[in-house]
Amino acid sequence: MSAQLIDGNALAAQIKAEVTAEVAALKTRGIHPGLAVVLVGDDPASQVYVSHKVKDSEQVGIHSVLERMEATTSEVALLAKVEALNNDPSIHGILVQMPLPKHIDSQKVIAAINPAKDVDGFHVVNAGALAVGLPGFWPCTPHGAMKMIESIGMNLRGKHAVVIGRSNIVGKPMAQMLLNQSATVTICHSATLNLKEICLCADVIVAAVGKQNVVTKDMVKAGAVVIDVGMNRNSQGKLCGDVDFGAVREVAGFITPVPGGVGPMTRALLLVNTLKAAGA
Ligand code: GUN
Repeated sequence: MSAQLIDGNALAAQIKAEVTAEVAALKTRGIHPGLAVVLVGDDPASQVYVSHKVKDSEQVGIHSVLERMEATTSEVALLAKVEALNNDPSIHGILVQMPLPKHIDSQKVIAAINPAKDVDGFHVVNAGALAVGLPGFWPCTPHGAMKMIESIGMNLRGKHAVVIGRSNIVGKPMAQMLLNQSATVTICHSATLNLKEICLCADVIVAAVGKQNVVTKDMVKAGAVVIDVGMNRNSQGKLCGDVDFGAVREVAGFITPVPGGVGPMTRALLLVNTLKAAGA
């Protein structure tokens, strides 16, 4: 039997419709939500991502500003830009697109963002809030993935969730969110010795590695939920995730496609966070 698809485009469209209505309501109270997206350098993938973020914002009525800076921009100049945006009352959310050029310390830049404007949820204050269960901004990609799991009505309590990848942006916060829902969570990474055996015990697999075919059919228990966070290009230049989609969908219960899965949900959750930063 073939797995049911979890349609990220459809879920994101629903969220965007809700955000559009809430933005309109905020505007009647004289609040116009604003998002600043900072792009340093000209990485082609990052350029595509930020243009989507700006376009999405405009679609839902959020004022957005794209701040482009040269690849040779100094760390000091970027920190000054962040500080200016921290002090700009028309800007409620700040996103500095990652990765940054090698000469810039990304942790320093993240630490400079006012946590109340940190719509990426990368600041240690927000990461800490997530860890201890306090309110704060949650990173958009794992939050989007959680919304996808929620959409199929799955109760995670006592379920075994396996997260593959331990990045600060996805793997670690994803594990935290699953744990907050009382799942039993295993985090696997590049040093994990028995990935296949661990995955075979999983009720939910979240693949967030950034490498094609990390999850193959022989690693997936029948009926498992498979969430693919990967965004890769295959040898034909086609967009693909970390999961061998065609084969894994034959055994999984639910699966997210790439494209049209977690990607649009990440973008939708950024809008939700910006709205929240503006006071909704
Ligand atoms: N690079 C890849 N994903 C993200 C993201 O969610 N936020 C930022 N700022 N940079 C990214």
